[in-house]
Amino acid sequence: TSRERLRNFCIIAHIDHGKSTLADRLLERTGTIDPRRMTEQVLDTMDLERERGITIKMQAVRLNYRRPDGEGYVLNLIDTPGHVDFSYEVSRSLAACEGALLVIDASQGIEAQTLANLYLALEHDLEIIPVINKIDLPNADPDKVIRELEESVGLDASGALRVSAKTGEGVDQVLEAIVERVPPPKGAPEAPLRALVFDSHFDSYRGVVAYVRVVEGALRRGDTIRLMQTGRDFEVSDLAVFRPALVAVEELAAGEVGAVMASMKDVTDCRVGDTVTLAARPAREPLPGYQPAKPMVYCGLYPVENEAFEDLRDALARLQLNDAALVYEPETSVALGFGFRCGFLGLLHMEIIQERLEREFRLDLVTTAPSVVYRVVSRKGETVEVRNPAELPDPARIEEIQEPFVHATILTPQEYIGPIMELCQERRGEFLTLEYVGPERARLEYRLPLAEILLEFFDRLKSRSRGYASLDYRFDGYRASSLVKLEVLIGGKPVDALSAIVHREKAYERGRQLTQKLREVIPRQLFEVPIQAAIGGRVIARETVRALRKDVLAKCYGGDITRKRKLLEKQKEGKRRMKHLGNVEVPQEAFMAVLRID
Ligand code: GTP
Repeated sequence: TSRERLRNFCIIAHIDHGKSTLADRLLERTGTIDPRRMTEQVLDTMDLERERGITIKMQAVRLNYRRPDGEGYVLNLIDTPGHVDFSYEVSRSLAACEGALLVIDASQGIEAQTLANLYLALEHDLEIIPVINKIDLPNADPDKVIRELEESVGLDASGALRVSAKTGEGVDQVLEAIVERVPPPKGAPEAPLRALVFDSHFDSYRGVVAYVRVVEGALRRGDTIRLMQTGRDFEVSDLAVFRPALVAVEELAAGEVGAVMASMKDVTDCRVGDTVTLAARPAREPLPGYQPAKPMVYCGLYPVENEAFEDLRDALARLQLNDAALVYEPETSVALGFGFRCGFLGLLHMEIIQERLEREFRLDLVTTAPSVVYRVVSRKGETVEVRNPAELPDPARIEEIQEPFVHATILTPQEYIGPIMELCQERRGEFLTLEYVGPERARLEYRLPLAEILLEFFDRLKSRSRGYASLDYRFDGYRASSLVKLEVLIGGKPVDALSAIVHREKAYERGRQLTQKLREVIPRQLFEVPIQAAIGGRVIARETVRALRKDVLAKCYGGDITRKRKLLEKQKEGKRRMKHLGNVEVPQEAFMAVLRID
């Protein structure tokens, strides 16, 4: 394809505003997918994505578009995830495009991630095409959305398109706008090759499949490529484009998007963000890389059966191939045995990885409560990072503990401003600004400790605003806070996997709530089990799980058999996730209890 006939674009949106549905329509209109084979939301390939209705993993697809005048164009669509956890992936896909469709739900208006994604796209100098979607809804108000865009963001929205991705109305204009407004790629075709690796996945036959955007030069089958970060060379066995399945091609020229296969057997051979060049004629400088994703949240993952440790290691390695943001290292817990400390971009990312490990790899896991990364400055002036609360050094040696903060942006209808400000106050938030984005909607900005966001902040925000507020946040540096380690003792023994780092002023309350919650979730045993919370060896709260007197089946003695079987099955189900701490059986829920308290 000549570059004049090539367009690379992505779709950005707040979650649920219709990005995947619009992508489906574009695929249909361009005949990329046979309508008979069209399942809903083709781009969301993982089962998990379909079930949760969210886009996790970015995907690319090539559309052959014929304009009404008969001219043919190639449009590369790069899909992006909408959730705040994955803004890192959004940024990667933006670097591979020249334009972005900014999809906004006509009945909802601008939301927090609409703004966050728009700013990212503007940073990458992309041509923005506002698409006001869901105009078929009875309460759609496209004019209002256009006013919001112009007034609050200062974006020229006069060319905004009015679309229903559901009915297909306006979709043809979207295709026309992509051709007319998104500039064709610029890079010099004769320059030494520079291609950006924006994603990769692992295929058991072909090894690492790298998704690249060729910025300058050209790449042919049989070329020997060099990865500029690692300095390693590989011979290209296959090149392909996405339709959306991989279709072989002989060449990828400047401006094109495609896949490179070169018998790369190890993820570390080909890092996302690296630049591909030719060994015979290397480029002088790599492309500006991405900021490597920095995991913000860590938790321990332990197999229920200790023998499954190696399986868990293999599974994590496999998942990391497709997920550059996942990190892990082995760790040992006195209570839980051998496992891994894993780092994630956020809670949703964490849940998704856990679920994939359990479903795709059939692993039974015990997960410890997520924790942020603390920085501990010692009396000697050294700084260490603490990813596991159990590893906090002796308080006597600590000068100060710093915790990560975020700059949070909340959009809300004005009637919920009060309750939301209260929530932020309770969560140790520092008020920054309050501005109106329309006659009835406000944008609130707060500086908040990331740890407080992990404690169901999002759910609380939703319930205090009847679901209307939206949240986006970005990392905003470390600051010292008054923090202490809260330890939990079960049956008199400290359980490392249950310790948490909490704010001093909230420690007593948290200790009390945590012991109460644990008493509820730890089943009664044949003996009495004391549960204590302590700070620096001093017990601040105590609860007791009373001893079990009767056999659980005694109640059904002589009773009907189905009831008995049900009870046994229920017990079995419960057992699956039990971990023995000494002689006490503790269920999975206990390790997450610290998160589920008010
Ligand atoms: P993520 O992938 O999770 O970021 O969401 P998304 O932005 O891709 O949204 P998705 O396409 O999954 O659409 C969200 C919901 O809105 C789905 O239930 C769609 O059926 C619905 N929807 C999308 N477009 C339209 C539209 O034009 N009109 C109406 N009425 N509903 C729509």
